[in-house]
Amino acid sequence: MSGVILNVNNLNRSFGGLHAVDDVTLSVEEGLIKSIIGPNGAGKTTFFNLISGNIRPDSGHIHFYGKDITGLKPFQVAALGICRTFQNTRLFGHMTVMENIMVGRHLKSRSGFISSLLGLPGNIREEKSIRASVLSLLEELNLSGIKDELCINIPFGLQRKVEIARALAVEPELLMLDEPAAGLNIYETTELGQLIGKIRDRGVTVLLVEHDISLVMNISDEIMVLNQGKKLAEGKPKEIQKNEEVIKVYLGE
Ligand SMILES: Nc1ncnc2c1ncn2[C@@H]1O[C@H](COP(=O)(O)OP(=O)(O)O)[C@@H](O)[C@H]1O
Ligand SMILES: [Mg+2]
Repeated sequence: MSGVILNVNNLNRSFGGLHAVDDVTLSVEEGLIKSIIGPNGAGKTTFFNLISGNIRPDSGHIHFYGKDITGLKPFQVAALGICRTFQNTRLFGHMTVMENIMVGRHLKSRSGFISSLLGLPGNIREEKSIRASVLSLLEELNLSGIKDELCINIPFGLQRKVEIARALAVEPELLMLDEPAAGLNIYETTELGQLIGKIRDRGVTVLLVEHDISLVMNISDEIMVLNQGKKLAEGKPKEIQKNEEVIKVYLGE
């Protein structure tokens, strides 16, 4: 059995009078796909935002490999090895697929993105090796054919994939995906499921928020159910599927 990569303890966050994340405790084991499901407004995205540093908790703690990361800024969290995608994709539309992924890869590299854009001499060798690693990532994700297309010109399903590629380019230990199947057709969703499985098999732990329940049931090792900010249930897909409280929440939706 491998170790715990992420530990969340009694996490709380309110917006005005609304308790969006209500005393949630969760641990994620290294090398697994852990999914978070729950009705709209359950607090899933807020929970992600708290972990990635996009917002701060009112109370509670987040540990990554035992290190307290509570309240760190997004770039600090990313530098430690946690990368994410957003419910609405955040690609640079007027940059190419390749350039978008290079931005991700540069978060990881020693010399900064700006100095490499300026072509400063010390960066040239590193630049070449970055290009090589991005090209092999593109190859692996079947995106080579569109690497020079502007992101605004590629179909939505591919944009989602490019966003995942950009997060992967940072070589995270933990990849967080917020509703990656939203807006995808059934073929794209199947392919996405295979891709997420491949990412896990490469040793990257995946935390997945997803509305497509059959995708979640197919690929998850463990599932947590959130409802009105609170943890309603947690367990293996088979256990969640027959949990009476979970069924009630979903039939009510
Ligand atoms: N920045 C914010 N300001 C005010 N309310 C927010 C904010 N972000 C989320 N909420 C509220 O918190 C609740 C949980 O939202 P969210 O985390 O987006 O849910 P989910 O991702 O599960 O659909 C919702 O009622 C939402 O309206
Ligand atoms: Mg959401």
